[in-house]
Amino acid sequence: MAKDVIIACDFAGAAETYAFLDRFPEEKPFLKIGMELFYAEGPQIVRELKARGHKLFLDLKLHDIPNTVKKAMRVLSNLDADIVNLHAAGTRAMMEAALEGLTRPDGSRPLLIAVTQLTSTDQQRMEQELLIEKPLDEVVLAYARNAAAAGLDGVVCSPLEAGKVHAACGAGFLTVTPGVRFAEGEKGDQKRVTTPAEARALGSDFIVVGRPITQAADPLAAYRRCVKEFLG
Ligand code: C5P
Repeated sequence: MAKDVIIACDFAGAAETYAFLDRFPEEKPFLKIGMELFYAEGPQIVRELKARGHKLFLDLKLHDIPNTVKKAMRVLSNLDADIVNLHAAGTRAMMEAALEGLTRPDGSRPLLIAVTQLTSTDQQRMEQELLIEKPLDEVVLAYARNAAAAGLDGVVCSPLEAGKVHAACGAGFLTVTPGVRFAEGEKGDQKRVTTPAEARALGSDFIVVGRPITQAADPLAAYRRCVKEFLG
């Protein structure tokens, strides 16, 4: 799939989401739906956005025993999302089961990517609460390698990690990267950020951009600027 800008639709409900999308008369942006919107509106929001012609990253971060994840992925594959995800911490067996569940009888399937360590987990919490004592960036790369070995298509990571992930897992292994801000923009709660142009230079395959577009005075102009900076 070609490189693209994905808008994080972190909205509480369908009405708010459609009101936002009404501001895009020409483009059909690639959208990300997370737990908040999915749990509020259910699978219908996915069907509706697909019917409107959007590509969709369904960011539900599955993590359970392999059989449960496999069956859940089978259901998600019927929803026709373009990208779905899970936690690499579920182990290789879970990731392989997920791929099996996701693959349709005709062999097609959505792309499947893994969350390595959440960016909200820092070294100290990982050591003290998860009892993982290796350096965080080593853990992220090891989880990315597990995901690649299980046959997944990529990982969610920071643009700052995209180069290392590609070096470890291959240039074709996708890096889907949040933490993107315009040069003069508010960082909000994101700490390690890059601009869309920097993300491009670092080799990100997809940037996930939320508030710099959704909270902009002119979301359409902000989206177009992102696309221009990231895709050139
Ligand atoms: O508003 P903002 O651009 O920070 O939104 C980024 C999006 O990417 C949010 O939906 C957030 O949940 C998601 N995300 C992230 N960091 C991760 C994984 C997902 O910011 N490590």
